[in-house]
Amino acid sequence: MDLLEIKAVNTDVQRWLATAATNLRQHLTAHFQVQTKSGRNDLVTNFDKETEHFLVDQIRHSFPNDQIVSEEGFGDQVQQMSGRVWFVDPIDGTLNFVKQRNDFAMMIGLYEDGRNVLGYILDVMDNKLLWGGPSVGLHLNEEAISGPANEPLAAGLFGVNGPMFATNRESVRDIAFASSGARILGSAGLEFQHVILGRQVGYISRLMPWDFAAGKILAETAGLSVTTIDGDPINMLKSQTVLVTTHHALPEIQRIRQS
Ligand code: IPD
Ligand code: CA
Ligand code: CA
Repeated sequence: MDLLEIKAVNTDVQRWLATAATNLRQHLTAHFQVQTKSGRNDLVTNFDKETEHFLVDQIRHSFPNDQIVSEEGFGDQVQQMSGRVWFVDPIDGTLNFVKQRNDFAMMIGLYEDGRNVLGYILDVMDNKLLWGGPSVGLHLNEEAISGPANEPLAAGLFGVNGPMFATNRESVRDIAFASSGARILGSAGLEFQHVILGRQVGYISRLMPWDFAAGKILAETAGLSVTTIDGDPINMLKSQTVLVTTHHALPEIQRIRQS
């Protein structure tokens, strides 16, 4: 896609997200239908499904030939990254959404032939949209922003997945102890936002493609490193342990992991 096409797509996506987020905020006091998926803390609500249905419908209407990877079943069974592939997480942090009515995000990522194009992480309750990509730069709502400082691990807070931290799985606790302190937000999207905005020096979690697709585009646009925990390139169509951090902290994290 050329820059003009990307800008036109951006206008559409921002309109869809604004509509979906307004709808969610208006229904926060409504009764939620909550179901469990893999376990008692893996929840899905009617709002996850309705929001995904709405966003997937918009993409299909505007781009009928594109493929869609999404969490709640309205997307496609995508096997390869050729052409345009969209990633949709309608509510990231569903447990926060259900228990707190706060600290959840809506995420969309767009790739073309495996390359980063556009990423969106919307903090729904704060109405803070972090968006951008390699050809349009990084933005927080209407403001163009730059990436964070290239800080060492010890200089910043580190976002972790709770169970991985508790059990030191894949050295996550050791890595977090070498930072200023561990943080657990319960939303991969908001963790990525924190790293990109320089509020955390990194984040590690086992994630699905819709959890990291938007964040990867935005973090790489911000000059951050996004790899597997072993420093390998991300596979866009697999669950894996994802590490987003500064280029300064990356070798320190790899040393801790290998020790
Ligand atoms: C979850 C959140 C959470 C992360 C989980 C994800 P969901 O997404 O991002 O922070 O630890 O791995 O599944 O299910 O609320 O969209
Ligand atoms: Ca979700
Ligand atoms: Ca998610």
